[in-house]
Amino acid sequence: MGDFIPVNEPLLDGNEKKYLDECIDTAWISSEGPFVKRFEQEFAARMGRKHGIAVTNGTAALDAAVEALDIGPGDEVILPAFTIISCINQIVRSGATPVLVDSDPVSWNMDVNQIEAKITPRTKAIMVVHIFGLPVDMDPVLELVERHGLKLIEDAAQMQGQEYRGKPCGSFGDLSTFSFYPNKHVTTGEGGMILTDDDQLAETCRGLRNLCFQPQKRFVHERLGWNLRMTNLQAALGVAQLERLDEFVARKRAMGARYSDLLKGVSGVQLPLAKTNFAGNVYWIYGIILDDSIDFGAEEAMQRLAEKGIGCRPFFCPMHQQPVLLRMGLFEGESCPVAERMYQRGFYVPSGMALTDEQLEQVAHGVKEVLA
Ligand SMILES: Cc1ncc(COP(=O)(O)O)c(C=O)c1O
Repeated sequence: MGDFIPVNEPLLDGNEKKYLDECIDTAWISSEGPFVKRFEQEFAARMGRKHGIAVTNGTAALDAAVEALDIGPGDEVILPAFTIISCINQIVRSGATPVLVDSDPVSWNMDVNQIEAKITPRTKAIMVVHIFGLPVDMDPVLELVERHGLKLIEDAAQMQGQEYRGKPCGSFGDLSTFSFYPNKHVTTGEGGMILTDDDQLAETCRGLRNLCFQPQKRFVHERLGWNLRMTNLQAALGVAQLERLDEFVARKRAMGARYSDLLKGVSGVQLPLAKTNFAGNVYWIYGIILDDSIDFGAEEAMQRLAEKGIGCRPFFCPMHQQPVLLRMGLFEGESCPVAERMYQRGFYVPSGMALTDEQLEQVAHGVKEVLA
């Protein structure tokens, strides 16, 4: 057995060091430094948006987005059951009601055909979350948003550089959010971004990011915000990483295609869909779902792969199965069978930007052995 293959390792061999050196040399390390504005502008431009608001992480971006839309008690927000807890945190904390939609078993994204039945007079917003590499089918969602006068939050954390029918993911929401955790195509270590075309919403998000200080009366507050400011050091990394986004996306696509090629003959597994009629997969991560013909679940598969020196991660535990939310009285008796099955049977294999071709072959070989 060779060295352990981590589930993710970023690639930092572009201008990252050079730009970080600039921060140190100029002593600009706080959020006031010039890389923050530059990163915001360049990232927003790349996604076709007017405003970028850099924040501390993708969770914070979602928190601020929910707060900026004045979502609170009496409001309902529709979101997928199969996602990270970050999506639901602020909806619940605000006193609003989260309403879940199950996943599509083929694309693994929220099943947009189930949304309309969940809309009530209290529905204020839909939160779409593009999952793992394929975008949500946005046209039906946009039609519902328009017809019912709803707000749209788009969580594009996993989807940097992906497009839906030729339009960038992250360009659809009233507010669209991103994460720059090291497993994302562009990383800043920790970091996030909110994008919008709306001047007023941008202003609100900037305020929420900065404790809602007021320009005229700095220490007098009309609203409760947070300190979500990204540092110049993080933004310096972001600018360097963004320069390589196209290259990173191409690499991810090549890695995903290679995995699919190596694993195509393996029986008992569902592999990621290569494309839909609106996008090709960018394989943010390479997920595998075990069929019922395999007599063990994801946890056991990951354990066996770890013994072979291969790091894996489970799929998300759906929101209606989260102990913390059940204890709060949410989702009692609800079921989302597709999301539940994805959680029980799904996991992902090493998919980071620094994964070499040799490592990828080793992983595929390990998967075949474990499932043989
Ligand atoms: C879809 C999605 N949204 C939000 C987040 C949260 O981002 P962060 O870890 O930067 O808080 C993640 C993190 O992986 C994510 O995958």
